[in-house]
Amino acid sequence: MQRPAGSPQQAPRRRIGPLLLRQISGVLMLSSRALMSMHWALNERIALMDFTPRPDDTFLVTYPRSGTNWMQMIMYQLTTDGDMERLTHILHAVPWFEVSLGRDFDLESLPSPRIMKSHLAYPRIPHGAGRYIYIMRDGKDVVTSYFYHEQRLNPGFNMPFDMFFEQFMRGKVMYGSWFDHVAGWWAHHNDPNVLFLRYEDLQRDLAGNIRKIADFCWITIDPARLPTIVERSSFAFMKQYEQKFDPMGGVMTGARPADEQEAPFLRKGVIGDWKTHLSEQQRARFDEMFDRRLRSIGIDAYPAEVAGAPAH
Ligand code: A3P
Repeated sequence: MQRPAGSPQQAPRRRIGPLLLRQISGVLMLSSRALMSMHWALNERIALMDFTPRPDDTFLVTYPRSGTNWMQMIMYQLTTDGDMERLTHILHAVPWFEVSLGRDFDLESLPSPRIMKSHLAYPRIPHGAGRYIYIMRDGKDVVTSYFYHEQRLNPGFNMPFDMFFEQFMRGKVMYGSWFDHVAGWWAHHNDPNVLFLRYEDLQRDLAGNIRKIADFCWITIDPARLPTIVERSSFAFMKQYEQKFDPMGGVMTGARPADEQEAPFLRKGVIGDWKTHLSEQQRARFDEMFDRRLRSIGIDAYPAEVAGAPAH
């Protein structure tokens, strides 16, 4: 149709209907996610009150990105024939304690001895006669690894590293203060049912630490199998089965497999990657806080040179 001369040019009709609906749908999705998370968190709290630990339970506890999957794999290798074809996903072999509680996964039906992973701080984890293996990793590498992990978890995440570092230092990240977490568990590192390990020690002497873990869990290792267990617990071996570790991997959620994503779940597995991420000022701030919160209670910073792992 021809426009009458002199009439103003008509702006293209803005289709506000679909736009509005898309916005409403986005808000609903976010709210339903938030509601779902609140529902799970509440479930977790209720189920925690009811949970009865068994004397032969083993909890593998970490602040996220400290080597949880590494410990899960070591325990899988120590307590089974370690077959990787039979392993559908590491969370089927070593379930995530608090998430299972929150989502009504029946932990009671698991045969003893149960092995479960957890990120709970010491005051929140059920205290029983069972064992607790805690892994601490250099917090500077934790914040670096956690930053990439958050990017993977939240597709819209576009926070610069500096801002994430700030939030980490203030404990304003999903699992709260790394310093509190470590200090809380360290206070019990001499308890007979707690084994406190360091990621960097595992890097330096994997075989020795696997023996230590086996002794702590009263597992006898056939000396002929030890080299296989060590080899299968290596980063390179686990990397070949990345999907079986990635909690967002296709096996668990139908999401894109880890090896097709830009950011892998098993990222680098080295000591000292923080050196390419933290500024000198951030390092100094972290170290000052470390001294004040952790060195003061007897935890030494781990000198990267001692670890003998590649420094970056
Ligand atoms: P990076 O992101 O620094 O590579 P979690 O399992 O607690 O989420 O920790 C993940 C971190 O542990 C990742 O660190 C991952 O690469 C590292 N990791 C996993 N398995 C490892 C292994 N066998 N050896 C060394 N690091 C390992």
